[in-house]
Amino acid sequence: MNAMPALDPAALQEAAKRNLWLHFTRHSSYANADIPMIVRGEGQYVYDQHGKRYLDGLAGLFVSQIGHGRTDVAEAGARQASELAYFPLWSYAHPRTVELAERLASYAPNDLNRVFFTTSGSEAVESAWKLAKQYFRLTGQPSRYKVLSRYIAYHGTSHGALAITGLPDIKVPFEPLPPGGVRVPNTNFYRAPAFVADDVTAFGVWAADEIERAIVREGPDSVAAVYLEPVQNSGGCFPPPPGYFQRVREICDKYGVLMVSDEVICGFGRLGHIFGCERYGYTPDIITFAKGVTSGYSPLGGMMVSDRLMEPYVRDENTFLHGITFAGHPVSCAVALANLDVFEMEDLLGNVRVFVVAFRATLEKLYDLPIVGDVRGDGYFYGIEMVKDKSTRETFNDDESERLLRGFMSHALFDAGLICRADDRGDPVIQLSPPLTCTQEHFDEIEQILRSVLTEAWTRI
Ligand SMILES: Cc1ncc(COP(=O)(O)O)c(C=O)c1O
Repeated sequence: MNAMPALDPAALQEAAKRNLWLHFTRHSSYANADIPMIVRGEGQYVYDQHGKRYLDGLAGLFVSQIGHGRTDVAEAGARQASELAYFPLWSYAHPRTVELAERLASYAPNDLNRVFFTTSGSEAVESAWKLAKQYFRLTGQPSRYKVLSRYIAYHGTSHGALAITGLPDIKVPFEPLPPGGVRVPNTNFYRAPAFVADDVTAFGVWAADEIERAIVREGPDSVAAVYLEPVQNSGGCFPPPPGYFQRVREICDKYGVLMVSDEVICGFGRLGHIFGCERYGYTPDIITFAKGVTSGYSPLGGMMVSDRLMEPYVRDENTFLHGITFAGHPVSCAVALANLDVFEMEDLLGNVRVFVVAFRATLEKLYDLPIVGDVRGDGYFYGIEMVKDKSTRETFNDDESERLLRGFMSHALFDAGLICRADDRGDPVIQLSPPLTCTQEHFDEIEQILRSVLTEAWTRI
């Protein structure tokens, strides 16, 4: 079989600049620079078109849990494509999809036994909202449609998911969005209000009680669901204070509001458990997932739903009026099963649990740098907040942040061989989310690169 001749590196660059539209990317920044071209991956590393190696400290985009280049997982997809490449889930089932649904149900807490597949995280988030709205109509509470979520939390980009996302800057150009999105405080203890800044438990009670106050303010019979990530990504990894989720669960039960655990990032081992809610001991009504379920070897998303929520949908002539052509794609489901086999064969959850302390301790070494204000996170998921003054926690203004993150750090980290994210959607942070196969040698490499780039950054402020 003749393969298509590959474009040479210069022609690829030219074609990329001419024909490809990059996501969330300022294209003008590549007017006089090459677009990074990642051509292959192996284990914890990826390689660019010049053969240069990078430690994948972000697992692509919080995706590549098992690492790159696993031919066994790729071959599971190829086998499935030969046997049955595609068939819809609209009135039909296929074996790998059923097997995956059964396996995911066996990992999920309590009675979250039903899986509705999607192809992405945004679709999962949006599907959960639609499920909730129709559920309440079927059960005699048609006025419930609003959704609560936390300030600067990211829940996706399609219009419905964007209405739940709490990042004003990425919403404004697309307004008006579907009505019903309501914001509540997040759990950024580093920036806690003064009256709870010395007591993380009191902070957690306050943040959870703000959810209750929002429900009461909006009118409980108008609120359908609250969306929370186990550890909030956007803003730089905000873990929950002790008791926070238990209090939120009580509030949801009190007002009949559904609790959605958005685990698009935190699921599939990121926190040392298949589902992140297990890490903090709470049971949501719905779990949304994507990314790590296949480690990116093929796209897939979905939601785990409790039997209670499914119940009206199996009654009478009721139908969930929602579907997606490629959801639960047979190839993606075969890949997901093979991915989960790798989790088990290589005890990746165990690896995260063993190394979590070492990962944190290695990153905390960076506290000796004047620019490092806070190191926070859990599992293999960390944010490092940069500050102008450690003692006052003063942050950078927009101009400094622009110069520091876009002008220097993003390029410097990449040039030094580390893929991670320098982000200022909240306060400026560096985010890390490496493959779950990483061990001390990789943490050391991350720390050394961060140390040299952060040291240089400080001299440029
Ligand atoms: C918590 C969370 N929810 C939803 C999404 C949207 O997922 P996708 O990009 O697959 O649509 C993301 C993406 O990063 C996410 O982090």
